[in-house]
Amino acid sequence: MRTQVGIIGAGPAGLMLSHLLHLQGIESVIIEKRTREEIEGTIKAGVLEQGVVDLMKETGVGERLMREGQFHKGIELRFNGKGHRIDMHELTGGKYVTVYAQHEVIKDLVEARLKAGGEIIFNVGDVSLHDLDTNSPKIRYRKDKNGDLQEIDCDFIVGADGFHGPSRPSIPASVRKEYQKIYPFGWLGILAEAPQSSAELIYANHERGFALVSTRTPEIQRLYLQVDLNDTIANWSDDRIWSELHARLETHDGFKLIEGTIFEKDIVWPRSYICDPMQYGRLFIAGDAAHTVPPTGAKGLNLAVADVQVLSRGLDAFYKSGKTDLLERYTETCLRRVWNSERFSWYMTSMLHRFHDTTPFEQQMQLAELNYVTSSRAAATSLSENYVGLPMEW
Ligand code: PHB
Repeated sequence: MRTQVGIIGAGPAGLMLSHLLHLQGIESVIIEKRTREEIEGTIKAGVLEQGVVDLMKETGVGERLMREGQFHKGIELRFNGKGHRIDMHELTGGKYVTVYAQHEVIKDLVEARLKAGGEIIFNVGDVSLHDLDTNSPKIRYRKDKNGDLQEIDCDFIVGADGFHGPSRPSIPASVRKEYQKIYPFGWLGILAEAPQSSAELIYANHERGFALVSTRTPEIQRLYLQVDLNDTIANWSDDRIWSELHARLETHDGFKLIEGTIFEKDIVWPRSYICDPMQYGRLFIAGDAAHTVPPTGAKGLNLAVADVQVLSRGLDAFYKSGKTDLLERYTETCLRRVWNSERFSWYMTSMLHRFHDTTPFEQQMQLAELNYVTSSRAAATSLSENYVGLPMEW
């Protein structure tokens, strides 16, 4: 098989890239190790920056998002038993975020690609990358996990295969510089059938640990608790989860968290990670394959989409006029935005969680920071412009 751009991974980065390339008249093939049902059913965070929403609308995949997404103009920071609203909409000249889960974005993009005749090969095994430093790099994989070995001849390969995929390790270790921070806790997430307890997201700093109130639909709520590094879901009965959420979210003015039936539990392990460069020869890596952020800033999907927007422009210039300057600057262009989102995610994480070495002094530093960002218009504006997202071309 031959294609112009071979894409590894049908997550938001790979699918959005394939979609953008199609609109530019560039052909691509996506391979994905999971099945369609798996990618459309995996629960991930769901906060979209305005730039991502605009891009989806402009490229014809924003219709369901506009119908079913929830538009949030503010967030609440909760500490010392009191909530403080940050009016992001007012502070950023009218911007907001849209709560629309990642797997919904995936469903919309898969549908658009298949409708336009795009090729997505699901359920592949043994993916490997070859001849990256030539003009005809190749992807090999097994059909249906253990079937026949197949080869795709490409002009370019894009690794959008997540943190654990084979693309990043295909960049020789000698040219890869990696930066990493692992946080000493997990995030236990639940989905519950319950009405909304709050119209906006609540980020709570509490001495028992961080808690977050988010939502999926008016009937389904997404809530998180900071848990120990070696915690397991087995340690968390439904009763324990609710009582911990109540304790961490309690306010002096009687906030009531509405309980419901928990139908899904998972734990994620927050990590800040950056790979520099994000390209090697004819391979470009994007999204979680290149960098991960802790979920506190809600930046993961947004960064992935920003990467592939930069890449689609570079590939467009290459195919239209043979120019390679945008492609050559891919790493530099993306990492400027990535490092800022890393900074913001690390800042939010540091301000809101209990660390094993959080001393009374550091606890006061967190509270002083929270008091400052919720009282100073300048500080609240800074937090808001990062949360709603800096301009795409930042
Ligand atoms: C989510 O809805 O899953 C979510 C929202 C905000 C975050 C992280 C996750 O910061």
